[in-house]
Amino acid sequence: MTSDHTDFRRMGPGDLDAALQASRQRTLALFDAHAAAGHAQAARVPRLAIVNPPLWELGHLAWFAEWFVLRQAAGSGPGDAIGPSLLAQGDRWFDSNTVAHDARWALDLPEPGALKAYCRDVLEQVREQLARTLDDDAALYPYRLVLAHEDMHGEALLYTLQTLGAAPPEPRAGAAGEVDDACRPGEIAFAGGELLLGGDQSRGFVFDNEKLAARCDIAPFAIDAGLVSNAAYLAFVRDGGYQRHGYWSEAGRAWLAHTKRAAPRYWRRDGRASEWHDLRFGRRAGLDPAAPVRHVNLHEAQAYCAWAGRRLPREEEWEFAAAGGDPRFAWGQLWEWTDSPFLPYPGFAADRYREYSAPWFGSRQVLRGASFATPARLHSPQFRNFYTPGRDDIFAGFRSCAM
Ligand SMILES: [Fe+2]
Repeated sequence: MTSDHTDFRRMGPGDLDAALQASRQRTLALFDAHAAAGHAQAARVPRLAIVNPPLWELGHLAWFAEWFVLRQAAGSGPGDAIGPSLLAQGDRWFDSNTVAHDARWALDLPEPGALKAYCRDVLEQVREQLARTLDDDAALYPYRLVLAHEDMHGEALLYTLQTLGAAPPEPRAGAAGEVDDACRPGEIAFAGGELLLGGDQSRGFVFDNEKLAARCDIAPFAIDAGLVSNAAYLAFVRDGGYQRHGYWSEAGRAWLAHTKRAAPRYWRRDGRASEWHDLRFGRRAGLDPAAPVRHVNLHEAQAYCAWAGRRLPREEEWEFAAAGGDPRFAWGQLWEWTDSPFLPYPGFAADRYREYSAPWFGSRQVLRGASFATPARLHSPQFRNFYTPGRDDIFAGFRSCAM
């Protein structure tokens, strides 16, 4: 499975062809898992701000690939689509920029079989065109974009299974043991120095929010070698962390008042029993003390740090640690909240997928790393993920830095 481990940013046509097929296979397996749980019809999916109806997501993936690879010539603007969609109503149904989130439950979508046929037709044409494409970064840009997009939606389809309490296609997804080394103990002291923050063209594909790459000075800092574990987080919970509001930011206190949360979203216990369980894809499992705490949001991560006399890393510190390749710095098992709001780097300009970053600056927080659900080909020290601070449905945890 070379394509799983080759960085998608540098993939040539052969690896891209294999990876596009692997990503699609995974999408279909995830969709089928949703279908088995009764989510194939939008009407049976709860109308939550944090999920999409899986049937809509399936059609959207094919539509996106068709738009960027087959219909939009390199360098042309969004208004210069070439020809209609293979699906008569494709533009009306599946453009995430024009179909409001709430409206995705009210569309007269085709049956799953018809949408799978559309997916198949588009992928076939994409692969045919890829076989005739030059092996250079500009020509391969839309293919790499489409692959990353489908991989990201794959992760979303998986965390949606967690949100809706349904079984995943990979039974081991995020099971204990898979994340053995993620909470490696200890701290690494970095002397700091110069970092080339972000991505330049020498890295092949670059997301617009990683540009322009710029040199920045990093002051000395000390950062956890691994993620905060369930055991460490449990000590915070047992110490009354959720009741002691001095540890929480103003936004965090508002979130606590609204949710009445007293532990992470999926932690459960019976009555006054001291034993906590974890809900994994709808099933109770013992809380693994050595595994990273997950499904915590930014407020919880910040409150824990305040309690522990620590702080969250800034995104450039995280990138410095990861890009330096220090083998003691363990990452890639779980997205990590950082102290950094999602903002453009100096010189930012939106790329061809204009709505990827620009609409979200200022309202999201940066997460770095990757989760167990992120294909290895997407792992990169430069990658900036971003979610609203209250999201606790995603596969995210955190690590801390010395003050
Ligand atoms: Fe999308």
